Amino acid sequence: MRPVEIKEGVFWLGAVDWNRRNFHGYSKAHKGTTYNNFLIVDEKVTLIDTVAEEFWGTLQCNIAQVLGDRKIDYVVANHLEPDHAGCLAKVVEKYQPEKIFTSPMGQKAMKAHFKYEDWPVEVTPTGTELSIGKRTLSFLETRMLHWPDSMLTYCPEEKLVFSNDAFGQNWATSERWADEVDRYRLEELMANYYANIVLPYSPVVLKTLATIKEMGLEIETICPDHGLMFRGDDCAWAIEKYLEFAEQKPKNKAVIVYDTMWHSTEKMAEAIACGLADEGVSVRLMCMKNNHHSDVMAEVFDAAAVIVGSPTHNNGILPLMADMLTYMKGLRPQNKIGSAVGSFGWSGECVKILTKWLEDMNMEVVEGIKNQYVPDHEVFNKCYEQGKAIAAAIKAKL
Ligand SMILES: Cc1cc2nc3c(=O)[nH]c(=O)nc-3n(C[C@H](O)[C@H](O)[C@H](O)COP(=O)(O)O)c2cc1C
Ligand SMILES: [Fe+2]
Ligand SMILES: [Fe+2]
Repeated sequence: MRPVEIKEGVFWLGAVDWNRRNFHGYSKAHKGTTYNNFLIVDEKVTLIDTVAEEFWGTLQCNIAQVLGDRKIDYVVANHLEPDHAGCLAKVVEKYQPEKIFTSPMGQKAMKAHFKYEDWPVEVTPTGTELSIGKRTLSFLETRMLHWPDSMLTYCPEEKLVFSNDAFGQNWATSERWADEVDRYRLEELMANYYANIVLPYSPVVLKTLATIKEMGLEIETICPDHGLMFRGDDCAWAIEKYLEFAEQKPKNKAVIVYDTMWHSTEKMAEAIACGLADEGVSVRLMCMKNNHHSDVMAEVFDAAAVIVGSPTHNNGILPLMADMLTYMKGLRPQNKIGSAVGSFGWSGECVKILTKWLEDMNMEVVEGIKNQYVPDHEVFNKCYEQGKAIAAAIKAKL
């Protein structure tokens, strides 16, 4: 895609990664992604972030289209992850910027990552103001949102914030603005990105949003480094969504995530789903053989209850469930009810192991159900009633 002038003298550059499906090696980007970066043409020509290394050609081409022979004076690195800093070393080598601005932790990461000797790095802790001519850039550290080095760059004259990964979505499109695409899809992809990348840092999101409010920053444009940008009233909408995501208020929804060898656990899970659905709870039944852990997480994110199921396998649980639980625990979901279910043959450790995972995630545990070998009607009834009991716990929580 060609550069887009988003405000007079401020350009979206970026690269659209239409074919990307594996995002960062562990999550699914079903609709591809974009690496947005920006160029401000002022007395000091300033490049904000770069793109993934494989798009170095695109970046050079975009810069040339906007600048012709003019040089880049400043580079701002809001985040050192390779999807945004992947071309940083090449940019430094080719354009020889006068200065590179980054957060205090960014400087450390830059040293460790790029092993540079003589880059003209300048550290910009929160509150630093930098004049680039007609415009000012001010910096806000967002440490651990979602890397130690992450920061936001705000331009008061344009009422514009370069938010890096915050507010991003994985969506390769020809459109650049949130108001040009379907709102429901946008929200879904924004939530998916949040659930899989930002979720553990929700307290930092809340703190950052509070700081932005306290500082009275006027925001008319939000430019994230992935996906669509927000302008006008959409900025308030995006901030409101992030507040909602970070608060993790549960919805009237349950996710049953399980794996099974001979379908006994699966049948028990289905009976629990019936009990929940009959009480008006929206249920997602997700078998790990057919769902990627990042898609499950996108559903778990706003659910009030998570029911985990596995048969006992070699005195443990099935490996795809171990994968799911490892992933889920790392993302630290809050305010959830948890319960376990599983079929077993002889030693029967499954429910105990699953329940331990739920406790480790501080979930409010509803005692689980295990059954030897194939469940009969009596067991199905028990599971159905378990669904109803979990529904009652959800109602009490909402
Ligand atoms: C390879 C294998 C290992 C198993 N290991 C155990 C075990 O260590 N302890 C146990 O109680 N059951 C064990 N089982 C029995 C299963 O837990 C039992 O068949 C259960 O009903 C399967 O539930 P499912 O239909 O949901 O797969 C094992 C089964 C298989 C095939
Ligand atoms: Fe990142
Ligand atoms: Fe990113």
